[in-house]
Amino acid sequence: MIDSTDTEWWRTAAIYQIYPRSFSDSNGDGTGDLAGITARLDHLATLGVDAVWLSPFYPSPQNDGGYDVADYRNVADEFGTLPDFDALVARAHDLGIRVIVDLVPNHCSWEHASFRAALASAPGSPERAMFHFRDGRGTDGELPPNDWQSMFEGPAWTRTPDGQWYLHLFDESQPDWNWSNPAVRADFEQTLRFWLDRDVDGFRVDVCDAMVKADGLPDWPYPTKGVVRPIDGRMPPMWDQEGIHEIFREWRAVLDSYEGTRILCAEAWLPPERTARIVRPGEMHQAFNFAYLEQQWDATAIRDTIETSISSNDAVGAPTTWVLSNHDVMRHASRYGYDGPVALESGVGADDPQPDRALGLRRARAATALMLALPGSAYIYQGEELGLPESTDLPDEVRQDPVWERSGHRIRGRDGCRVPLPWTVSAPSFGFSASETTWLPQAADFGNFAVATQDGVPDSTLSLYREALSLRRSLTGPLEFSEAPADVISFTRGDVRVVANISTSPVALQAGSEVLLASGPVQGLTVPADTTVWVRLAS
Ligand code: NOJ
Ligand code: CA
Repeated sequence: MIDSTDTEWWRTAAIYQIYPRSFSDSNGDGTGDLAGITARLDHLATLGVDAVWLSPFYPSPQNDGGYDVADYRNVADEFGTLPDFDALVARAHDLGIRVIVDLVPNHCSWEHASFRAALASAPGSPERAMFHFRDGRGTDGELPPNDWQSMFEGPAWTRTPDGQWYLHLFDESQPDWNWSNPAVRADFEQTLRFWLDRDVDGFRVDVCDAMVKADGLPDWPYPTKGVVRPIDGRMPPMWDQEGIHEIFREWRAVLDSYEGTRILCAEAWLPPERTARIVRPGEMHQAFNFAYLEQQWDATAIRDTIETSISSNDAVGAPTTWVLSNHDVMRHASRYGYDGPVALESGVGADDPQPDRALGLRRARAATALMLALPGSAYIYQGEELGLPESTDLPDEVRQDPVWERSGHRIRGRDGCRVPLPWTVSAPSFGFSASETTWLPQAADFGNFAVATQDGVPDSTLSLYREALSLRRSLTGPLEFSEAPADVISFTRGDVRVVANISTSPVALQAGSEVLLASGPVQGLTVPADTTVWVRLAS
C-alpha cells in the first residue's frame, strides 16, 4: 500500500519510466497496453522502485509516439480504457508503487478537437486564439511569420488552406498551444484535475520550458534545438521565458489542494542553474537532470555535474534528480560503448559504426551503480535494468520517429531505444506479446536480456539493479567527496563509501572495507577499470 502520510516520498524516489507501447502487450496486437502493464507490475515491485511514470497513453495519431495528444482526458483504444487505467493505478498502489502520468502542455495533435475547430474557424476567431496562428510574410503571405526552426528539422510553421500559418516547435501535426490565452490555462487545469481525481501521484511535464514564447515571436536565425544560451546577447525566444513560472505556481496550487503529495517533474533541457529556477518553492517538485545524462564516461565531467547539480538544487531546497536513459536518447548500455561523444537523439543505422557492446554494458552498470548512490531521486528507463542495448540495426523502413522523414532521411531518430521489452527467452516476441510481430521489431538476441534469463542470476544486470535499489534505501546523509586517484570518483554517504573507477587501471580500496555492492567482478580489495563499488568502511 501507499503510505499517504509520507509527504516527502518524492525527494528520494526511484521512478521507473514506462513507455506503454513497448512494455507489455495483453491482447496480442503487437503493441503494449495498460492491461499489459498491470499484469507486469510485480516485476517493478520486485525491482524495488517507488513510482512509475507512464509516457502518453492518450488518444493520438501517434505521429510522435503519443506526444501528439488528441484528447488529454481519455485512453487510446490501442492502450485500453479508463477502467483499465483505474485498475493499473489500484494495483500499483496496492504494491506500494505511485503512478505519474505525462502532461504534454506545449502542443497537442492536429486531431485535437480544439485545433480542428481552429482550422474550421476564421482568422482572428477565438478558436484560432487557442494556438499561434499568424499571417505570413512576403507579398502574399507566402513566407512563414518568422524564421523559427522545428525541433524535428524544417520550419516551425505550416500554412493552412486559408493562407494563415500556425506554429509548431515539433512536427507539423503538433500545433503549439497559446499559453497567453486564459482559455488554454483553464482547459489544462481541468486536465490536471481529471487525472488527480483518478488518483495519480503526479505529472511529468513535457517541454515545459517552451510553453511561453517571447512577445511578438521575434526572429531567431539560429537552431532551435540545443540552444538555451544567449547568442549575440539574446536568449532564444522559445525557451525558458519568465512567464512559465507563473503557470507552474498555478499548477502547484492545484496539486497541493489534493490529498497526499502529488508531484510535478519538469522536462526541460536547460543547464542546472536554470532548471533550479523551476523547482523553487511553490513551483515544481523536481526536474530532470539532463546535464547529468549528457556527460560522457569522464570522471571530471561527471563529478563536476554532480557538484553543480546538487549546489543549484540545494540553493532552492529541491532534491537533485539523476537519469541516464529515457525514450529520447540512445540507451546508456550502447552510448558508453563508443569512444567519444555520441549524438543522443540521432539514432544508429545498420551501416553506421556499431558500439562495443561488452564495454558499453560494463560502463553502463558502473554508471548506474554510481547514479543510484547519489542523494535525491533517480529515474530508470524500462529495459535498462536488463542492460538492454539500443537497437542499432533497425531496418529504415520500420522507423517511426518523425525526424527521419522531416530530415529527408538524414537523422534516423529515437526508435532504437523504444523497441518492445524481452520478458522470456523464446518466441513469440520474447514474452512481450502473443504475436510474433511487434510494432518495432525486436533483435534476434533479445532473449539473452530477458527478465526470465536474468532473474535469480547473481551477477546479472537485473540482480545488480535490484540490489542497488534495495541498498540505496539505507544510504543516508549528504554526499561528501573523498580524495581519489585521477579519473576515480569517490564519496561517502554516512559510513558507506562509493568508488567509481572510470580510469583504465585498477584502484585499491582501503583495508578493512566490506564490499556491499559491485557493478562487476571485484577481486579482494581491487576495483577494476569501469567498475563501481559501494563499501562499508571499517569502523
Ligand atoms: C519530449 C518527449 O520526451 C519527446 O519524446 C517528444 O518528442 C517531445 N518532447 C515533444 O513532445
Ligand atoms: Ca496490445
